[in-house]
Amino acid sequence: MNKIPVILDGDPGHDDAIAWVFAKADPRLDIRMVSSVAGNQTIEKTTYNMRRICTLLGIDAPQVRGAVRPVTADPVTAGNWHGESGLDGPAMPEPAYPLEEIPAVDLMAKVISESEEPVIIFPTGPLTNVAELLMIHPEVKEKIGRISLMGGGVTHGNWKPAAEFNIMEDPEAAWTVFHSGIPITMCGLDVTEKAIMQPDDFPRIRGVGNQAAEIVAGWLEFFYRYPMQIGYTGAPVHDPCAVLAVTHPEIFTMKDYYVDIELGGEYTRGATVADFKGGLGKEPNTTVVLDIDREKYIDLLIEALHAYDGWEVAI
Ligand code: RIB
Ligand code: CA
Repeated sequence: MNKIPVILDGDPGHDDAIAWVFAKADPRLDIRMVSSVAGNQTIEKTTYNMRRICTLLGIDAPQVRGAVRPVTADPVTAGNWHGESGLDGPAMPEPAYPLEEIPAVDLMAKVISESEEPVIIFPTGPLTNVAELLMIHPEVKEKIGRISLMGGGVTHGNWKPAAEFNIMEDPEAAWTVFHSGIPITMCGLDVTEKAIMQPDDFPRIRGVGNQAAEIVAGWLEFFYRYPMQIGYTGAPVHDPCAVLAVTHPEIFTMKDYYVDIELGGEYTRGATVADFKGGLGKEPNTTVVLDIDREKYIDLLIEALHAYDGWEVAI
């Protein structure tokens, strides 16, 4: 069976890191490259974290530094969630793989144009890199099979009342992506705030008994602190939903809607607005993921972590 070529693009970030644990563990996916983007932390920190995570997991695909800042908005970081480093918690290995010296969008375009099969892009941070790819290399659009992203929310926001962090960080980039005509799967807060990993899950995760499991448990023990202070029952592990919506759609509930991005509005800029009733008369452009079987989510993490049995790197 041909593997599915994929691009990982994120702002690690604890939940980006766990999304990449799932992606690397799935034998059906062929990770062709990894790119960082400014978001949870500055581009320097998310790039360093990207490289350390790839080393930890043995992701030896080309890695590249992405956009330094959003297209128009001033960058905002999320140190309260992810710490000063962007990946606070357990010790991590130093990068073992080189950083490519070409612009992220050029590497993306090269990977996509050289691929035999349509490529799936898994953005789990602001959509700056993906938008820049579509603007600078429109010729590759036809070879992007799907963009399965974490971002938005058709019922509420988090960073702002109506806007979720990834979309809010770069609404113009999100607008470009949602208007691209490329099939989009949107894992917004509607589903990702149900993708909760709770303290009761941590011993079972650590009990997998390998280095990756120990570090994932350590990430969660850091990452759940802040959400617990603001009323969550555990850590909303948002980003893996973007990968699992493609690899394990059976654990989700999804519905197709026309979704657009609000660029104006004092209180609504960055909102992902779904046309539930079809009143705009536009064809659906987005598969909106609305619910998840949380128990199966945890089971899939345990299964993914066992893929790292016998794998260990020096820290
Ligand atoms: O709003 C949640 C999103 O913002 C996640 O992708 C998290 O990593 C942060 O980037
Ligand atoms: Ca992220």
